[in-house]
Order: sequence, then structure tokens, then C-alpha cells
Amino acid sequence: MEGKEKPVRAPCNGPISAILRSTNQVLPCWTAFLNCPQMPVTLQYGSLTLPTRYLLSPLAGFTNLPFRRVVREVGGVGLCTTDLVSARALLAGSRKSMKLIETCAEDSPLSVQIFGSDPRMMHDAAQYLQERGIASIDINMGCPVQKIVGGGAGSAMMCRRDETIDLVKTVVESVSLPVTVKMRLGWDDENWTAPFFAREFEQVGVAAIAIHGRTREQGFRGSVKREGIRQVVEAVENIPVIGNGDILNVADAQRMFAETGCHGISIGRGALANPWIFQQLVDWETTGTCRPSGTFDERLRLMLRQLDFQTLQLGEDLGIRLFRKMGHWYLKGMRVPASLRHDFQNARTRDDVNEVVERITQHGPQTGDRNALPDMHIPVPSGPVDKW
Ligand SMILES: Cc1cc2nc3c(=O)[nH]c(=O)nc-3n(C[C@H](O)[C@H](O)[C@H](O)COP(=O)(O)O)c2cc1C
Repeated sequence: MEGKEKPVRAPCNGPISAILRSTNQVLPCWTAFLNCPQMPVTLQYGSLTLPTRYLLSPLAGFTNLPFRRVVREVGGVGLCTTDLVSARALLAGSRKSMKLIETCAEDSPLSVQIFGSDPRMMHDAAQYLQERGIASIDINMGCPVQKIVGGGAGSAMMCRRDETIDLVKTVVESVSLPVTVKMRLGWDDENWTAPFFAREFEQVGVAAIAIHGRTREQGFRGSVKREGIRQVVEAVENIPVIGNGDILNVADAQRMFAETGCHGISIGRGALANPWIFQQLVDWETTGTCRPSGTFDERLRLMLRQLDFQTLQLGEDLGIRLFRKMGHWYLKGMRVPASLRHDFQNARTRDDVNEVVERITQHGPQTGDRNALPDMHIPVPSGPVDKW
């Protein structure tokens, strides 16, 4: 750990948050009773202070720069992480990898998530990212996809104890910035190796652990095992543990804090469905109440904002073409009729987009209230799969 500050647990910003954290209970927010808004609880990743304890989880294909920018504009997010990036491809200068790590002044603090099984490559990739001014590096130990696991990376690392600890140590020692690890509970229910690794990683200088409460075997099936996340929290001494999985609203976040004692949470699919979730959590934490998620018209504006960021990054033609997947989710969540969604998918130019959006605005949601949309469900792959 030479040259590195010892990671410390998240400081509390005031007595109320201290009570909330030390009791590990979720109480009807105390600040509401006392009527005194607090500052959000921050998190410490080594020397890096995260402004809130609510983090955006990496979602390959979704958590790109344009999405991160809108999430940050909406507010409340303490740290964003890129999609997973291959250390090998990064060092080879692959165009795709370069796009994945593209960032801008507003996209801060940013962590880049790398994967690979070769310690030398992971070491060099970490150094390369440090030279590019990235704030933090995250090592992927959770990806269940066969292509990644087959190469010994992702969740396969949870099956090899010594090699994995050596690899993580190598990365930690290669840079002065905070290195974190994101993992699952283990390979299967007979092998919850996450608590063991968390303890070992803290010893080699890892700054924080993010833990998705499912096993590799589980994929995305069933529910998150908060008991496993709690075991990881109990396994470490000082570093923050970030609980992850199935958090869609404030009540889910409260349950995660209460049942696991985790210090922060990270949200993936919930943020895709509701980019307001981070601000809602901060509002809840600091005032005891939170505003509703965006209305139909606010979501439409946010979607166009993201599209603007995307065309800025990729140009109009590619930007619009690659926005289809994201546009689909926005419009489905807004209950836009299939025919209008279809027209949006066929838009080729910004003028086409504007024309369809005008019709969508006039039409409003097919069901429900324009000012109070129902929660949106985002389907996910049902288990370890070859492709996402
Ligand atoms: C489409 C998709 C892509 C994902 N990509 C990544 C990734 O690149 N790196 C990673 O560590 N986890 C990835 N995950 C896992 C999520 O970060 C997160 O751990 C998981 O979805 C559970 O959290 P959630 O319920 O808040 O989404 C991905 C999940 C999905 C559904």
C-alpha cells in the first residue's frame, strides 16, 4: 500500500446520519422529524471523496457517456462507472474501447471498469487509465457471460483464490488512484467466496467493494441475497461495501441498508427505468421526503437531451442509429403507443426525430396520467448467457 492512503469508512456528515448508519436500521427519516435538512452522506474511496453514497452500476451497452451525462444532470449520483472494458483491447487501442472510456469534464468522478485474467495486462491498462486522468479503477469479477468467464475473467476469478488475489494486488500496486472490485456472491450457492475475497482485498489495498447479491449460477434469476451482502460487510474492517441488486426505489434502498449494513448502494436497471432515483435518494436522506420521478414531458426532454449528447459524441447518423435501444426503453416506460415507437425507431435525421417527438408530445401516454407515470419494468437476461 506504499504511496496510497489507507481507505477509510465513509464519514457521516452529521449526527442524524451517524445515528442512521450506526443503528443499521431504516427509520422513517429522522431529519423529517427534526425538520433540519442534512448534507448527503459522502463516501471515501481512499483519497477520493464521493459526494453521495448512491452509485451508478455498470450496464454494458447502456451506461455510456451520454447516459452518464443525463444521470449527472438530474443529480444525486456519487460515482459513475463505465461498461466493462477489456484490458487487452484497451492496450491494443481498439476503437470500441476508446469510445467506452471517453469522458468529459461534467462526467466526474468516473471509474473505468476493466476485465482480464492476465495480471500484466491489467497492470498496464490501469497505468494507462491513470495517465488519462481517470479517478478510479474497478476490476470486474462478476460478469457471468461465457465469453468472459471462458477466458478466466469476470466471475471465473471467484473460483481461483491465490491467482485472483495476486492479480488484484498487482493492479492496486500499479497506480496511486483507488482500485475497487465489483463481484458477485460467488460461483454458486455452495461457494460464496465473496466474504473471503473482500477480506483479502482489503489487506492488499483495495479501496471499496461493490457486491451484487447473486451468484454466477443464478445469473439474474431469483432475488438478491442480502444475507450474502451482509457477510461481505462483516468481512471487512474499514473499506466501504456497496450493496447492489434489484434496487428500484427508496424503499428498496432502505431495505438494502437495513438488512446488510452496507455503506453505499449502486443501481443499474433501476436507473435506466428512473434516472431520477439518485436525486430521490439524496432528497430522502437529507429532507425525509422526495419528489416523484419525471413526468411524461420531463422524460421526453431527458431522452432528447441524451440523444443530443450522443450525436455530439458519435455524429448525427451513428448517434441516432445507436440510440434505438435506449429510445425504445424511454418510450416504452412512457407508455407511448407502438406505432409512434416504431416511427421513432425509423427516424434517420434529427429533423425526423423532431417530427416524431412532436407527435408523441401531442399524443401523450397511451394509458395512465401524463404527470404520474406508473413504475417501469426493465426486463433482463434470465441467467448466465452467451450474449447480452
Ligand atoms: C444489460 C446489463 C449489462 C451489465 N453490464 C455490466 C458490466 O459491464 N459490468 C458489471 O460489473 N456488471 C454489469 N451488469 C450487472 C449490473 O451492474 C448489476 O450488478 C446488476 O444488474 C444488478 O443490479 P441492478 O438490479 O441494480 O441492475 C450488467 C447488467 C445488465 C442487466
